[in-house]
Amino acid sequence: MENAAVRVKHAEFPGMIGYERGTGPCCRDATRYGDIIGNSRGMREIYHLVERVADSESTVVITGESGTGKGMVARAIHNRSRRHDHPFITINCGAIPENLLESELFGHVRGAFTGASANKPGKFELAKGGTVFLDEIGDMSANLQVKILRVLEEREFEPVGGSKTLHADVRIIAATHADLEKLVREKKFREDLFYRLYVVPIKVPSLRERSSDIPLLVAHFLRRFNKKNHRHVEGISEEALNAMQAYSWPGNVRELRNTMERMVVLKGKGRIELHDLPHKVNNGSRVAPMGHVEISEDGIDLNSAVTEYERALILESLKRTNWVKNQAAKLLQVNRTTLVEKIKRHKLSELQAS
Ligand SMILES: Nc1ncnc2c1ncn2[C@@H]1O[C@H](COP(=O)(O)OP(=O)(O)OP(=O)(O)O)[C@@H](O)[C@H]1O
Ligand SMILES: [Mg+2]
Repeated sequence: MENAAVRVKHAEFPGMIGYERGTGPCCRDATRYGDIIGNSRGMREIYHLVERVADSESTVVITGESGTGKGMVARAIHNRSRRHDHPFITINCGAIPENLLESELFGHVRGAFTGASANKPGKFELAKGGTVFLDEIGDMSANLQVKILRVLEEREFEPVGGSKTLHADVRIIAATHADLEKLVREKKFREDLFYRLYVVPIKVPSLRERSSDIPLLVAHFLRRFNKKNHRHVEGISEEALNAMQAYSWPGNVRELRNTMERMVVLKGKGRIELHDLPHKVNNGSRVAPMGHVEISEDGIDLNSAVTEYERALILESLKRTNWVKNQAAKLLQVNRTTLVEKIKRHKLSELQAS
């Protein structure tokens, strides 16, 4: 049950994955969590954490590479919290102009400054009873850091030009793709704010750490972009899917989503083949160059060198697929039994690899 898309493929669409007749992963609860698609161990851990923190008031910091779905995780926490009937307001920390900072966050009263022709609520007031999502906190200016720290500490704020102090009835969720600890060491991020925010950290894994989710995501986006663009692409060939699982996806799910949309629109119908993939994805399926190779005066033991390389490739494929041997065997283009034999021969175990 690790991978419903592959099962659908064998049951209904030999040689390709598809989703027709309501049988695809989009309809199976075990392969998704609300809108979030994924059934890898890494993603199941995230769902578990979300369940545990959602009904608390604790501040959560979501980290992970760009495009991994941090925004989706933040929303999932809000949607499952007691505050779900109230607003979810995003503050894009790097995008507020400095001169509007205070007014954007805390609002202003009429006449507070030239052009303030009416009272205007800020984000903290708009979010009353709900959640404030501080996105890209690594991009906060020094000024914004001070202002946010004060709200977190005192749970109060004043609109610009106003005399009334308002209570900040919000839950804070923050996200960043930056290494905040490094920013603290470099004195670019306040240490006191870091500790205020870092109550419950959640790290979303990159897509290459959970390539067993790729077939599910592919089937999901295939369905979505067919519908959106009035296309009739039926599926994707096994070779193309293998290449997609072998690719490193530096832009994570966002990159996969955009790649799928482009391919669905351009293809229109039939099935996606290896040659339909963007060049960089397609190339990933070839053997990676080993880098610089050296042979000393004494020569080299070719057998042990090749064995070492084989061991490294097997370990990498197992890591990428969360030790789902069927998937790892596919990545390496060998039979499952061959892979199992090699795992034994190299004495590899999950425990030892982590
Ligand atoms: N697990 C997932 N299932 C379905 N769609 C996903 C998943 N993860 C990400 N996406 C899609 O990928 C895109 C990027 O997701 P999101 O904006 O949440 O990422 P992010 O980690 O916040 O990225 P950034 O750091 O660049 O803001 C969105 O369009 C989202 O719909
Ligand atoms: Mg985001």
